[in-house]
Amino acid sequence: TRTIYLDCDTGIDDSLALAFLLAAPGTDLVGIGAVSGNVSAAQGAQNTLDLLELAGRGDIPVAIGAHDPLAGHFDGGVPHIHGDNGIGNIKLHPAQATTTGTSAAELLISLSHDHPGELSIVAIGPLTNIALALAIDPSLPTRIKDVTIMGGAALVAGNVSPVAEANIWNDPEAAALTLAARWDLTLVPLDVTLENILEEEQRVALEESPIPVVSSIGRILDFYFDFYVGLYGRRASAMHDPLAAAIATGAIIPTNAPRVAIEVDTTRGPGRGQTICDLRGQRMGPVDQPGAHCRVVLGTDIPLPPVLVEHLLA
Ligand code: BDR
Ligand code: CA
Repeated sequence: TRTIYLDCDTGIDDSLALAFLLAAPGTDLVGIGAVSGNVSAAQGAQNTLDLLELAGRGDIPVAIGAHDPLAGHFDGGVPHIHGDNGIGNIKLHPAQATTTGTSAAELLISLSHDHPGELSIVAIGPLTNIALALAIDPSLPTRIKDVTIMGGAALVAGNVSPVAEANIWNDPEAAALTLAARWDLTLVPLDVTLENILEEEQRVALEESPIPVVSSIGRILDFYFDFYVGLYGRRASAMHDPLAAAIATGAIIPTNAPRVAIEVDTTRGPGRGQTICDLRGQRMGPVDQPGAHCRVVLGTDIPLPPVLVEHLLA
């Protein structure tokens, strides 16, 4: 079994990643922290609770994490991409369960003591909660099995600035601290997430599912598909967060994923939020750099969308 702490800004593709982790065989989701990104941390936590209840998993603890990034303030999110409420303006039945009352960083630290050496972190929002947990307890990495992050752009353009991807852009200082910590880290950047595209017929299959949480997500995706028409020229959407979740569970295996030095630009100039991956010397195939602890995923074994749909409809 894989024991997972999920940190998210739920969010439409976050909802899909959550549903995937609930459905993935051999996966035990033991706690979730919300962070501001697509929506505020409080709204993201509420969306997460509502989805969990719909899935019959109101037992999983959900903590509200950081509202603001380490430096600066939450910018109000991206209602034009994820809807005003983060889940495509679909209203879910409000959950009975409430948040833990602790911070997400505290929840993560406490879970790391409950599952020493076994806990995998899947981070699909800005990395503020993870950086706060590291600040509270610098020994955290010694108890964590591995960390999988959706974020960054290695060799492709960014999606917020010419070079920065949203999760890193929203808290570059936190990303820099998280990537520098000595844990076994996998970065899943736009290079691969933008290539894993869910098509309209797959969305419709989800919407028509008899499983309530799956059909709701099919409806939620409608809003995301409208946004992505501008990028793909058809109703479809990138599977950013679900790809990171699938890699963390082993359902998708990175094939081209060298361990290299990665630095986050925390300057205030045009490079802010860029993930600078040292990919020199990779022309003949992936080569690990001695001492590098982060692998950057540039290719995977199989496309995610069919696997995702199959897991959700099973
Ligand atoms: C990332 O940004 C968020 O809007 C998505 O949920 C995903 O985590 C993609 O850049
Ligand atoms: Ca996200």
